Amino acid sequence: MSKTTAAITAVGSYVPDFVMTNKILETLVDTNDEWITTRTGIKERRILKGEGLGTSYLAIKAAEQLLEKRKLDPKDIELIIVATATPDMMVAATAAYVASEIGATNAFAYDLQAACSSFLYGMSTAASYIESGRYKKVLLIGADKMSSIIDYTDRTTCIIFGDGAGAALFEPNNEGLGLQDEYLRSDGVGRNFLKMDAGGSLLPASEETVKNRQHFIYQDGKSVFKFAVTNMADSAAKIMERNNLSHEDVDWLIPHQANKRIIDATSNRMGLDDSKVMMNIQRYGNTTSATLPLLLSDYESQLKKGDNLVFAAFGGGFTWGSIYLKWAYNS
Ligand code: UT7
Repeated sequence: MSKTTAAITAVGSYVPDFVMTNKILETLVDTNDEWITTRTGIKERRILKGEGLGTSYLAIKAAEQLLEKRKLDPKDIELIIVATATPDMMVAATAAYVASEIGATNAFAYDLQAACSSFLYGMSTAASYIESGRYKKVLLIGADKMSSIIDYTDRTTCIIFGDGAGAALFEPNNEGLGLQDEYLRSDGVGRNFLKMDAGGSLLPASEETVKNRQHFIYQDGKSVFKFAVTNMADSAAKIMERNNLSHEDVDWLIPHQANKRIIDATSNRMGLDDSKVMMNIQRYGNTTSATLPLLLSDYESQLKKGDNLVFAAFGGGFTWGSIYLKWAYNS
C-alpha cells in the first residue's frame, strides 16, 4: 500500500476592504511612494476597520470562503489551527472561537505562533496529523490583524504591514501528492531584532509600557533583512538540492511577502524565472501569517495537479524554513 501523504485540497482567503495606499501613509509619516516602492515593492495594503473586529473576523471570512467553494460541511473538520501573531486575546485561543463561529462543532482548535513563519510551521503540523492517520480533515488558517500592533507614527514599520487571512484544507492523499519535504529552523538570537516588547509575561502591560509605546512592533529592519535574505534563499536552495530539483523542476516559488528584494534574492538563488514566483506584496504588504495562503488563493486558478511548489518564509524569533509540496488538484 502506498504511503499516505498530506495534500492541500482547498483554499480560501479574505482581505478587508479598506485600502491604505502609500499616498495615505505620506500624510501620516515622513515617507514617500518612491521610497516605499523601491525599498519594499509595496504599493498598498488592506486594513481592517471597525470596532470589535479582531483577527478572528479575518480568519472566519477566509474559512467560510473555503467551505463555500468546496461545499464542505464544517462538522466534518476535525482540527482547526489558526497560525497568527495577533490573536484576538492573549489567553483564549482564537482558533476555538473561529471553529464555533463557522460551525465546526466536532473540531478541536488551537493557535500556533511563530511570527511570519507561523503558516509554514503550521503546514508541517497539519501535515503530520494527516500523515500519521490520526485525522482526515485539518483546516490551517493564517490570519493577522497587523494594524492592531502597528505604530502609525513609526515610518520604519507602518509602511510594511497589512491585514489579511488565508485558509488551506489538508487531507490524506494516496497518489504521492502533497507535502514532500521540509527544512525548518529557528534561532533565538533574533528575538531582539523583531519583537513587541510588552504585554507578555516578560513585561506585562503597565502605564509605563503604554507611555513608551511598547505594545507596538519594533523592527531593526537592516539586521532582519540580512538574516532573512540569507536564510530564505539558503533554505529554498537546500530543499531543492535534497530533493534533486533543478530550477526547471520547480513550477512555483511561494515566498513570504516581507520585501520584494528578499523575494528576488531567493528566486535568483534558485535560478527561477519571475513567471514562477508568486507575488502580491504590492497589493497587501506583509500580512505575516497570511502571506502564503493568500498567495495560494490568488494563484489557485494557475496551479495544476502535480506542480512542484517550494514555500519559503522568514520571521521574528528568528524562525524560517522551506517546504516542498506537490499540488494536488486542478481548480
Ligand atoms: O516579515 C518578517 C521579516 N521581516 C523582514 O524580512 C523585513 C526585513 N527588512 C526590510 O525589509 C528592510 O530593512 C526595510 C524595508 C524595513 C527597510 O529598508 P532598508 O533599505 O533596510 O532601509 P534602512 O532601514 O537601512 O533605512 C535607509 C534610510 C534611513 O535613512 P538614512 O539613515 O540613510 O538617512 C532611514 O531613516 O531610509 C530611511 N527610512 C525611510 N525613508 C522614507 C526608513 N524608513 C523610511 C520610510 N520612508 N518609511
